[in-house]
Amino acid sequence: MTRFRSLKMLLPYVWPKENLKLRYYLSAAFVFMIVAKVSTAFVPLAYKSMVDTLSGEHGQLIAIPLGFIVIYGIARISGSLFEELRNVMFVHVSQNATRLLGIRVFKQLHALSLRFHLERQTGGLSLSIERGTQAVAAVLSRLLFSVLPILFEITLVAVILWRLLSVWFAVAIVVTVTCYILFTIAAVGWRTRFRRELNQANADANNKSIDSLLNYETVKYFGNEDFEARRFDQSRQLYEFAAIKNQISFTVLSLGQTAIISVGLVVMMAMAAQGILRGQMTVGDFVLVNAYLLQLYQPLNFFGFIYGEVRQALIDMDNMFDLLELDREIEDRPGAKSLHLTKGEVVFDQVNFGYDPRRPILKDISFSIPAGKTVAIVGASGAGKSTLSRLLFRFYEVTDGAILLDGQDIRHVTQASLRQAIGIVPQDTVLFNDSLRYNIGYGNTDASKEEIERAAKLAYIHDFIVSLPDGYDTRVGERGLKLSGGEKQRVAIARTILKNPMILVFDEATSALDTHTEREIQAHLHEVSRNHTTLVIAHRLSTIVDADEIIVLDAGVIVERGDHGDLLSQNGRYAAMWQHQRREEDEKGE
Ligand SMILES: Nc1ncnc2c1ncn2[C@@H]1O[C@H](COP(=O)(O)OP(=O)(O)OP(=O)(O)O)[C@@H](O)[C@H]1O
Ligand SMILES: [Mg+2]
Repeated sequence: MTRFRSLKMLLPYVWPKENLKLRYYLSAAFVFMIVAKVSTAFVPLAYKSMVDTLSGEHGQLIAIPLGFIVIYGIARISGSLFEELRNVMFVHVSQNATRLLGIRVFKQLHALSLRFHLERQTGGLSLSIERGTQAVAAVLSRLLFSVLPILFEITLVAVILWRLLSVWFAVAIVVTVTCYILFTIAAVGWRTRFRRELNQANADANNKSIDSLLNYETVKYFGNEDFEARRFDQSRQLYEFAAIKNQISFTVLSLGQTAIISVGLVVMMAMAAQGILRGQMTVGDFVLVNAYLLQLYQPLNFFGFIYGEVRQALIDMDNMFDLLELDREIEDRPGAKSLHLTKGEVVFDQVNFGYDPRRPILKDISFSIPAGKTVAIVGASGAGKSTLSRLLFRFYEVTDGAILLDGQDIRHVTQASLRQAIGIVPQDTVLFNDSLRYNIGYGNTDASKEEIERAAKLAYIHDFIVSLPDGYDTRVGERGLKLSGGEKQRVAIARTILKNPMILVFDEATSALDTHTEREIQAHLHEVSRNHTTLVIAHRLSTIVDADEIIVLDAGVIVERGDHGDLLSQNGRYAAMWQHQRREEDEKGE
């Protein structure tokens, strides 16, 4: 039973070991719940006594019903009062649990591998998190403060009826309620299928619309608005059908519930009427039975809804807990130490890798970047150049071989210390939808304003930023789309400069820049990468002529290596690429 797993996983959040205050709150909530229910149970009793006194069955004085009326009033007020107090106590517990679980899921999502994130759709993911954390509060408050109190109240009423009238009333009420609950559980179970269809249709429609909007520009480029609308409409149609089925099943559930309660009510009223005729019961008793059933009817009527909700919430929570139990793929080894860099030497030792075992991407790659030196990787698109940097960051585990930093296998050190030591200007920079200052400052969240501006100057973007009306406070738009490709790249360079790691990776860091700006930045990058171990992935060969070693990668294999001069004299692939690019530049120059 996976549902019990969810409840078990929830328990430490509801009854937190280290948080005594919340335990008091929960205990208080329980006490208040009992007081509220007992008070409510008094209401019909006081009512009955009033009726009996007024109808003169016991011939008492008129002063006594006044007493009952007051008791009746107090019972009603205290019933609501304690119920509200209970809610106030409990909201502390449920919201705390929601928050803690939300944080845990958030952390887990960041701990899951890049592979996981590339395969999952963000829209569906955030929906399932939102549902999951909201489900926590729903399950807790419903189970503890709706289901439990209903059961308690029913027991209380059955006992009162038994003691006051006869055991048959207790039997009748228990039978009615049992039928009601069993029917509800069965019907809700049957309905779950429709609910799930509805949720799936909803998530699907959501994904489609988010993906379509994320690709706004692409949609326009291809004039595919109608195509997108049709796709969206298809998934909305599925949603429509699912919603209709869901409503019909709900109607069946409601009608069945009302029928059961009504039959119970009729039977018990008939029993009470007969009791009066036989002279065994008073009019007050008749009123009492009626009042109790009607009083129970309300929460019971709610029960179907609550049960459905709890069931759904348990499913949502289950999805969330599944997420928490997912294999993280890349994990720190138990007892992994921090990476300790003294020189900053990078070694790829016979590395083999493929994203999918059926398709190897890198084959037997061996090279080393001595401390403080620069190695450049060149090669055709898809050769596996960016893959090298992803492996260096340990976004994926190498299939074979090893990557060593100052002799330490990156699999044996903590991911946090590894990533702290490396900085990358990635091929495609994505920025946070925040200000330029925030995005540059992201390289070092403790950096001062001056440090951020210094980094911006080194990345050759300070002048541009101050020329903007809002300067450093300019917001860059979703994913940074309000900046040009070259501006984004320079923001990425600035934040890497700010991070100031020992090892630098530039993955076509200046590919989106014009030759002039590129030269300017190159000079700065030279400055920045001095005394840093640097891996440069480049397309334009003129930017890497100074590299200490140049590696030519083709389809995941190293085909040539050496410095610029060596490679030219080898007259192989590199020399051909070089001549080709020279010719192109000459043509442009003229
Ligand atoms: N997450 C992934 N899952 C599966 N295959 C991938 C993934 N990322 C990249 N690939 C594949 O791996 C190969 C190497 O990709 P990589 O990004 O390393 O190329 P690259 O040399 O950097 O090319 P470019 O010059 O175009 O940036 C490509 O054929 C690509 O399709
Ligand atoms: Mg690449």
